Amino acid sequence: MTNVLESTEFTSVNLANRFVLAPMTRTSAEADGTPTHLMAQQYERYARGGFGLLITEGTYTDNQASQGYANQPGLINFEQANGWRAIVERVHAAGSRIFVQLMHAGAQFQANRFTSQPLAPSAVVPKGAPLGLYGDQKEWLTPKAMTEADIRHAIEGFRQSARLAREAGFDGIELHGANGYLLNQFLSTHFNQRDDQYGGTLANRLRLVEEVVRAVREEVGPDYPVGIRLSQGTVTDPDYQLPEGQAGFEQIVVAVRDAGADFVHTTDAEVNRQALIGGNDSLAQVVQRVPGIGLIVNGGITEQSYQEIANQYQGALLAVGKKALANPDFVQRLKDGKALDELDFAMLQPKATLANEQAWRARNDTTAAV
Ligand SMILES: Cc1cc2nc3c(=O)[nH]c(=O)nc-3n(C[C@H](O)[C@H](O)[C@H](O)COP(=O)(O)O)c2cc1C
Repeated sequence: MTNVLESTEFTSVNLANRFVLAPMTRTSAEADGTPTHLMAQQYERYARGGFGLLITEGTYTDNQASQGYANQPGLINFEQANGWRAIVERVHAAGSRIFVQLMHAGAQFQANRFTSQPLAPSAVVPKGAPLGLYGDQKEWLTPKAMTEADIRHAIEGFRQSARLAREAGFDGIELHGANGYLLNQFLSTHFNQRDDQYGGTLANRLRLVEEVVRAVREEVGPDYPVGIRLSQGTVTDPDYQLPEGQAGFEQIVVAVRDAGADFVHTTDAEVNRQALIGGNDSLAQVVQRVPGIGLIVNGGITEQSYQEIANQYQGALLAVGKKALANPDFVQRLKDGKALDELDFAMLQPKATLANEQAWRARNDTTAAV
């Protein structure tokens, strides 16, 4: 039986336990993308609450179309890197580790201070409507299909952000290849209608993901943790499936490993959802079978399910989202045998900002104030 609360080594990083704070966008940076004092307080709170590893919210990577939300943090300049350094230091002082999640919004673009033109694999809008959690935009804009030069610029953005991440003291990098953002869009047959070397077959749709992993690996050197979060579904199309199914997903995992990724972080509605055409496995089971790559699992992990999932995925880390929002001290409460709260979505209304969470906590008189 895996003891989730015992210290462990993951991609050469020592962690106090196997619990990970899942990446969660809170749109609470300054308008210019610089992390704030309130963000530092919030990340420190999760570290004090016992999470062995924190993964930051999706953080944009270039001065073109990567930013997707107003008040999203970035990692493209000295000021932003300095803001993150202060956060990293507080998290380290509280005994946790922290990876930054690097993200390009692609077609899922609601606000951007550099451009009003989203860039994506093709001129295809996402399904459904933009998320009210992050902004007031009612309809998706039509993206411009990326030229080769746009693709090079995006790769260069990830590379430069990776350098700044290392300089800011982050313990590792997670690339956001899930939930319908740019890297995920290139993998998707809905978003990617290209007929060049970046579209068509899965090998072609994988090309950008491989190039980004390779560029980041090259930039940070061989010993620095780099991984990628992967899903099939997107925020507004949670049931999308790769037509290449289980074999295709395995091809993606092998490709990112061979390009230099140390771990894959799978996310789905439930860790064990059987999601793949032509197979019975979950995304996490596919990754588990591929040798030479670490695994973080995510989706619906609770105080009831975590032990079973940990036993099933030996060696994996367990990332917790909504239960962590409701219980920033999730891990400490498990250790103390205390009851855990359910997430009240009113905490994230009308938008998922830290200020709204603070106001909710003041109204509800909870002890875990930001
Ligand atoms: C408010 C909020 C913001 C989120 N932002 C991100 C994000 O920036 N990057 C990401 O990969 N996932 C993001 N997610 C998804 C979570 O990381 C996680 O995958 C999801 O909540 C499912 O896990 P859970 O069942 O433990 O909540 C977000 C989820 C929530 C609720």
